[in-house]
Amino acid sequence: MDALHHAPLQKPAAPSSFPESPLSRALRQPMMLGLFLPIQSGGWTASTLPRGTTWTFDYNAALARQAEDLGFDIVFGLAQWLPKGGYNEVQDGQAIDSFMAIAALAAITSGILLISTVHVLYGPWHPLHFAKFGATLDHISKGRWGVNVVTGHRAVEHEMFGWSRIEHDRRYALADEFLGVVQHLWAADENLTYTGESWRLKDGYITPKPLFGRPILVNATGSDAGIEFAARHSDIVFISSPTGTEFETAMAALPAHVAKVKAAANREIKTIINPLVIIAETDEAAEAYADAIVAQAQPTGFYAGKYHSDAHAWAQRKVYDKDRQRGLGGGNIQIIGGPEKVADSIARLKAAGIDGVQLSFYDFVPDLALFGERVLPLLKDRGLRF
Ligand SMILES: Cc1cc2nc3c(=O)[nH]c(=O)nc-3n(C[C@H](O)[C@H](O)[C@H](O)COP(=O)(O)O)c2cc1C
Repeated sequence: MDALHHAPLQKPAAPSSFPESPLSRALRQPMMLGLFLPIQSGGWTASTLPRGTTWTFDYNAALARQAEDLGFDIVFGLAQWLPKGGYNEVQDGQAIDSFMAIAALAAITSGILLISTVHVLYGPWHPLHFAKFGATLDHISKGRWGVNVVTGHRAVEHEMFGWSRIEHDRRYALADEFLGVVQHLWAADENLTYTGESWRLKDGYITPKPLFGRPILVNATGSDAGIEFAARHSDIVFISSPTGTEFETAMAALPAHVAKVKAAANREIKTIINPLVIIAETDEAAEAYADAIVAQAQPTGFYAGKYHSDAHAWAQRKVYDKDRQRGLGGGNIQIIGGPEKVADSIARLKAAGIDGVQLSFYDFVPDLALFGERVLPLLKDRGLRF
């Protein structure tokens, strides 16, 4: 095959262009609700305060059903590749794989969107594998499955796969080529012969085609290169606070950040942020809950120094800050309060231009139950949920 030889690549229609697609249904909610499943040990918070949260499939399957019963729109799992020991005693690296675990939820749920995180450059995956697996999951889930395309920000992960970390913006260029081919395979009625910079195919073809153009495409980013990538490909961008996790500080920067992400795309693109919600019956009880978590926090955590990351999305996070005593970790922004304050905070995120929240909790099952019982009715009263 000749170098860099191929016909122009096709793009499938976005699932949001089909009014009956599961994505379109979720997008009709004034504020989408997602749950960030803890498929990795320690969830988002390196604390030894006792809780039920665990990485097992059974625990996460029960949570996905709980979220679906509450009318949530999305469940999502992250992907990580960590050397022995993980980050610390709590976040010790045990994690079930996001692609497989979230895919397995397709068979035991019926309405909720399922988003797997995949490091598309590791392996490396071949676009034909990815297009085939994605179309298969699209059919099993009836259009509910999607992928959070990530390129790998930790040096140790790339090294685990046998090379040095690829330069930040170059990763997005490679992912762009990969996803261009994958999308062509989802769209095209003819075989594809392709020689690109990194991948080759001869008479590549997949069938069945996805039900609503293609699976849902998401990416999670804070960098300019990542935002440009999202503008080209994604239905939803998972954004983070450019100024750290403390709520008021984050709110000062979020409206401009959201506007920047939306302006990057010359089409409608939705944004979701992932708050860690520390909830209790009253504001005082929630503050006490947060203090108890911090009192038993580990000195290093998820994103602190142990493994080098070049991600812009997490750059301002504080996992454990002895002086400020509020570096709980988890989420790109923290909401600590009783039901009214949690509902108010979500309304303020909506007012900042954000289209959804993907929640994580410290002790998922009881905290999600309390959120469902006390906060969801308030969100409905405020017109944020149907
Ligand atoms: C909500 C959210 C979820 C993320 N999930 C993952 C993940 O599962 N695995 C991963 O390697 N990175 C994950 N990331 C980090 C992004 O992959 C990381 O930001 C990426 O390297 C992009 O870097 P950038 O922000 O510099 O563009 C996530 C980021 C956010 C905001």
